Amino acid sequence: GSGRLIDTLGRPLRDLRISVTDRCNFRCNYCMPKEIFDKDYAYLPHKALLSFEEITRIAKVFVAHGVQKIRLTGGEPLLRKNIERLIEQLAALRTPQGQALDITLTTNGSLLARKARDLKAAGLQRVTVSLDGLDDAVFRRMNDVDFPVADVLAGIEAAQEAGLGPIKINMVVKRGTNEHEILPMARHFMGSGIVLRFIEYMDVGATNGWRMNEVLASSEVVKLIHAELPLVQLEPSNPGETAARWGYANASGQYDKELGEIGVISSVTQAFCSECNRARLSTEGKLFLCLFASQGYDLRSLIRQEGAASDADLASAIGHIWQGRGDRYSELRSALAPDAGTGGHRVEMSYIGG
Ligand code: GTP
Ligand code: 5AD
Ligand code: SF4
Ligand code: SF4
Repeated sequence: GSGRLIDTLGRPLRDLRISVTDRCNFRCNYCMPKEIFDKDYAYLPHKALLSFEEITRIAKVFVAHGVQKIRLTGGEPLLRKNIERLIEQLAALRTPQGQALDITLTTNGSLLARKARDLKAAGLQRVTVSLDGLDDAVFRRMNDVDFPVADVLAGIEAAQEAGLGPIKINMVVKRGTNEHEILPMARHFMGSGIVLRFIEYMDVGATNGWRMNEVLASSEVVKLIHAELPLVQLEPSNPGETAARWGYANASGQYDKELGEIGVISSVTQAFCSECNRARLSTEGKLFLCLFASQGYDLRSLIRQEGAASDADLASAIGHIWQGRGDRYSELRSALAPDAGTGGHRVEMSYIGG
């Protein structure tokens, strides 16, 4: 691989997001609503999952093609048995320039207090924790399994102590559900070294009953915080970054590093497809070129079939797939009516990986 691979819109391949399980112990309504993900829901059988060896083999080919960052997601990735062993294998990979990868993981934090040290020891660099509010009642209602917020906060603390930083917190904002938590969350994490990011509620998957009137635009979030805690806009730190950055200002209106920054991820009101450098590998080994794709490319059968592909075959297949990529779903949808139900069958976020 050359590392100079680009798609039809000139976008390089930099970020690989790997879903390691389609299961989760939470039932956030915007992601795995209880009515659908009930005890009869057909999760993937164990033999369908990519093994750690298969994941590492595929990841290595992606790295040769220019991937510099690997994010483990799910579902809840810490539910995958022995995930530390996978992290060890991924941490041993090197870019063509000889650099280690940025390896991170998105978790709901429920198992973090127990696992933070082992994850760090295995080679994980940092974590992103999903947290939708500080108020215990609001939090229990949003995870919909009555999980207490104190346990997630303890997980975040354990991650900080283990050196799994810089830590990011993702808060999905739903109008009418948790917008009252925006300011308490901002106050809580200001000056902590942790970056809090507000995510617009997205129409991902097909089960969450998404409606535009439940989206609170990031511009509103920024306005709300700025009125109490003055903010200044910061430059992006990486090309193709999902979040726009805002820093807390001191009394003279300058960004104050000690107070830190927040981010807003505006996939609904300000699509960021033009620089999207992310590929997604599903739990069963399908390659998806967009979070909103309805179909993936079956890499698992390429490597499991009889007369299976060599690494060179796999590299050439992935290269061709990326070169043919033209996905830009969020940009296209924002060209539609604001509350257009987008229709069509889309895969669930718990399967493809956030
Ligand atoms: P950092 O390197 O830590 O900044 O990671 P990240 O922002 O790429 O990853 P993270 O998983 O924290 O992403 C935050 C959220 O942004 C995700 O949970 C999604 O809700 C959303 N998101 C991430 N990537 C995409 C994308 O490619 N398209 C869209 N529409 N949303 C995305
Ligand atoms: N809209 C926005 N963000 C979502 N996430 C899951 N479903 C949605 C949605 N419909 C977020 C989670 C987590 C990450 C994996 O994706 O909160 O932070
Ligand atoms: Fe689980 Fe995360 Fe989905 Fe919530 S958003 S149900 S914690 S995977
Ligand atoms: Fe990338 Fe698709 Fe998200 Fe656009 S909608 S940023 S192309 S994943």
